[in-house]
Amino acid sequence: MHRGPLREGEWVRLTDSKGRKHNFELQAGKRFFSNKGHLDHDDLIGREEGFTLASSAGGEYLVFRPLLSEFVVSMPRGAAVVYPKDAAQIVAMADIFPGARVVEAGVGSGALTCSLLRAVGPWGRVSSFERREEFADVARRNVNQFFGAPADQTHPAWELTLGDLAEALPASGERCDRIILDMLAPWECLDAAAGALVPGGIVCAYVATTTQLSRFVETVRAHGGFTEPQPWESLVRDWHVEGLAVRPGHKMIGHTAFLVTARRLAPGQKPLRKTRRPAPGAYGPDYSGPRPPGLPVEPAPED
Ligand SMILES: C[S@@+](CC[C@H](N)C(=O)[O-])C[C@H]1O[C@@H](n2cnc3c(N)ncnc32)[C@H](O)[C@@H]1O
Repeated sequence: MHRGPLREGEWVRLTDSKGRKHNFELQAGKRFFSNKGHLDHDDLIGREEGFTLASSAGGEYLVFRPLLSEFVVSMPRGAAVVYPKDAAQIVAMADIFPGARVVEAGVGSGALTCSLLRAVGPWGRVSSFERREEFADVARRNVNQFFGAPADQTHPAWELTLGDLAEALPASGERCDRIILDMLAPWECLDAAAGALVPGGIVCAYVATTTQLSRFVETVRAHGGFTEPQPWESLVRDWHVEGLAVRPGHKMIGHTAFLVTARRLAPGQKPLRKTRRPAPGAYGPDYSGPRPPGLPVEPAPED
């Protein structure tokens, strides 16, 4: 996979002299059209990637297979995808290892699924849950396209279940090492995650807003069966390097989403009690979310 001569049915990525990208599936007898004329797919099929090709009106194109990070941002989408910078953080910080049994929900467009499948390898397992059939269909097509699965087959380590994780995971009786939650309300799936994770396993949530972040972190604390949750985000900045002009790029990938991880404790165990008191007002009268166990109620401030 992903090496050797370009084959019919694979995606290619063409880059023109202005850096514009064009992605398409190779089909014998088809033509790719641009503002610089056309190219025949047959002139690409059978060649080793990494070559330049001229179109009928003199445009020059560099031809490669898309990398996974390129494929997921250009593939057809149902729901919003996990961006490559965050997928890399998830694989590293949620410690997705070869052979791991990973559960993820929702599958959305299947972007994160591709990174998870690569990380667990052929002896691992990725069980994806998705409650919307139309998104599950998009994800199935994208994952099968990326891994080049023959018709009516899929990646051998992948299973996709249609259903709400909060009900479908307990019903499956599945035990797993890692659970990744990328959905609007991951706190609703925490009990199901806790029931399926082995001791030492990791739950990792990917949430877009600070209110979701707060609700998830406080729900993990209130559950009591996990270590103290660790929230963070990553920002990625390109650099411009040209002779003496070496400076940060003008654009950066700033906020995409927040990540949180926590580890599952063994049955009957409790997290270490915090020695530091919460910041004054943190859980005051204006706070209405889940409360960490054993927290004294703060008196309302005097007028
Ligand atoms: C942002 S998308 C996931 C994107 C995906 N991780 C990717 O990289 O392509 C969120 C998905 O979660 C699904 N979803 C939300 N709550 C769910 C639940 N409780 N169980 C299963 N799927 C859920 C939604 O239908 C949606 O498709």
